[in-house]
Amino acid sequence: MTCLVVEVPIERVESGIPGLDELLRGGIPRRNVVLLSGGPGTGKSIFGQQFLYYGLLRRSPGILVALEEHPVQIRINMSQFGWDVREFEAKGLFAIVDAFTAGIGEAAKHERYVVRAVDDVHALIDVLRRAIKEIGAERVVVDSVSTLYMTKPAMARGTVMLLKRVLSGLGCTSILVSQVSVTERGFGGPGVEHAADGIIRLDLDEINGRLYRSILIYKMRGTAHSMMRHPFDITDKGIVIYPNKTLSISRGKLYEE
Ligand SMILES: Nc1ncnc2c1ncn2[C@@H]1O[C@H](COP(=O)(O)OP(=O)(O)O)[C@@H](O)[C@H]1O
Ligand SMILES: [Mg+2]
Repeated sequence: MTCLVVEVPIERVESGIPGLDELLRGGIPRRNVVLLSGGPGTGKSIFGQQFLYYGLLRRSPGILVALEEHPVQIRINMSQFGWDVREFEAKGLFAIVDAFTAGIGEAAKHERYVVRAVDDVHALIDVLRRAIKEIGAERVVVDSVSTLYMTKPAMARGTVMLLKRVLSGLGCTSILVSQVSVTERGFGGPGVEHAADGIIRLDLDEINGRLYRSILIYKMRGTAHSMMRHPFDITDKGIVIYPNKTLSISRGKLYEE
């Protein structure tokens, strides 16, 4: 008996972040839930917004779940990179799920998707599920998932699992922003790294009085990927990764190639 092995090519989602898709051999495997972890100022929010905006340009609807910043502020921040989401919101291709204001304040009254109980994961999931279905979202960014279990770290893994079931189940490719402290080399909460399909780590290291940005793909289910640390920049057009350059940091010394 002969056995025919047919290799099914996996579907990939282009991140649209210059350099990243090369590191991922073509893009993020579809339906993956990727944990994007890093300290403050490492570029996590910009990364997530850039991923969503690129999707919009390709007519791939997206949702940003705002847990840490006012939706009004997010629109302003994005427009500074030339990512104007208002026209896409008007067309029903993009939505911000407001899990920040709890519906309090004048500006919040204009938001379409508001989570009233911001500390209730199930309330958030109800609103998110509705938003995904209404706009047909293919990309989702949660900024940040850490906010959901800040006061109860034991809930971290379960929360990520719950989100993964919903997001992946609805066919979305997702980025969960995860905050870590400046000195922590982990991924932000016990067990979260096991629940996620992928882990991308952004770092900011001070060497001899200068800060260096770098990215490391730690894990990505469904694909081979670069195992090196690569430098990147944040420019007025967003994040640019240098896939042909590597960077290593050892005992306070930095090696660039
Ligand atoms: N127009 C810009 N050009 C270059 N760097 C920028 C620009 N805007 C923001 N940044 C950098 O991005 C950082 C903030 O990125 P952000 O994604 O908000 O970080 P995080 O979400 O990881 O805390 C700022 O500290 C600054 O260094
Ligand atoms: Mg941020």
